[in-house]
Amino acid sequence: MYRIAVIPADGVGPEVSEEAERALRAAARGHDFDVETEWFDWGCDRWLADGKMMPDDYLDILAGFDAIFLGSVGDVSKMPDHLSLELILGIRRGFDQYVNLRPIRLYPGVSTPIRTATAETLDMVVIRENTEGEYAAQGGIFKTGTPDAVALQTAVFTHKGCERVMRYSFELARQRSKLGSEAPVGRVTNCTKSNALNYSMVFWDTVFDEVAADFPDVETDMALVDALSMWMVKNPEWFDVIVASNLFGDIITDLGAMLQGGMGFAAGGNVDPEHRFPSMFEPIHGSAPKYTGQRRGNPIASIEAVRMMLDHLGEHQAADAVGMAIAEVLVEGEVGTRDMGGTNTTDEVGAAIADRIR
Ligand code: IPM
Ligand code: MN
Repeated sequence: MYRIAVIPADGVGPEVSEEAERALRAAARGHDFDVETEWFDWGCDRWLADGKMMPDDYLDILAGFDAIFLGSVGDVSKMPDHLSLELILGIRRGFDQYVNLRPIRLYPGVSTPIRTATAETLDMVVIRENTEGEYAAQGGIFKTGTPDAVALQTAVFTHKGCERVMRYSFELARQRSKLGSEAPVGRVTNCTKSNALNYSMVFWDTVFDEVAADFPDVETDMALVDALSMWMVKNPEWFDVIVASNLFGDIITDLGAMLQGGMGFAAGGNVDPEHRFPSMFEPIHGSAPKYTGQRRGNPIASIEAVRMMLDHLGEHQAADAVGMAIAEVLVEGEVGTRDMGGTNTTDEVGAAIADRIR
């Protein structure tokens, strides 16, 4: 029995969360485990109603669950993004989910705007540091509202923080090379910018080299983040595992989402590899408030997030069943949301995948 906290939050979040739950239940039925979900009404509406998005003890509440599913957060017509997004960022930091796992893979049958990306060439994973770096939230605004105003935002790179996410990346590359995947595997690319960021990224590179020395069987490579963005488009087949800082990882995974057919296909896991705290899985697309309730959002990223959640929980067969169901429905091409060139609603696509899982 797994207890899953669902935070649907804002915009299309609730609609795609319904489909995530449907897929999760279908997978459980066929694989000998049970799921119990609890939905939380945390988000911008609650902030409008009582000035708080979530209760103060939200981390204590979530700590009792096996995993968290997050729909999508934010609606600027209700509250500023930099306040609402504390819901995601607070969970990532509070539960020390130091790995942000973002697979970038093109399912056969999905069209991509990038010609170099094919089901054969595109199979990489971005490991984004998820608790510190540019997102450390250290800084302040001095002389606010005066002509002399000054903003300071300090990135924080700790040896521990860099080392653990890099170790995870090398272990993942080693594991992928054993799986015999078709893409070139067993390589970790260091996404850096040490030519310009002369403290933080030079330090980051040093830690990378230290960790790499412990994994002589894994190939390494480094690319400056600007050039890396170009290479992701030009030669996606080159990449296997990419390890990146928080902000760089954020940026290159939106690019990755386009390679894989659009934001509707991109899922991510905010993972505590040590299983001390619940990990959180989410589609990485936004909340698209203007489409709220129209059932036009693509549920595949959310269902893909469920696949990742099941893998994390150790339900590998169920995870594979979810992945296969998505793949089959995409190859058949009989249902699709608008972003896929189809005319189906969120729930129609979700139901087709759930049927296939069953
Ligand atoms: C993401 C998102 C978040 C981030 C936002 C919503 C705070 O863009 O998960 O990639 O920047 O990490
Ligand atoms: Mn992002």
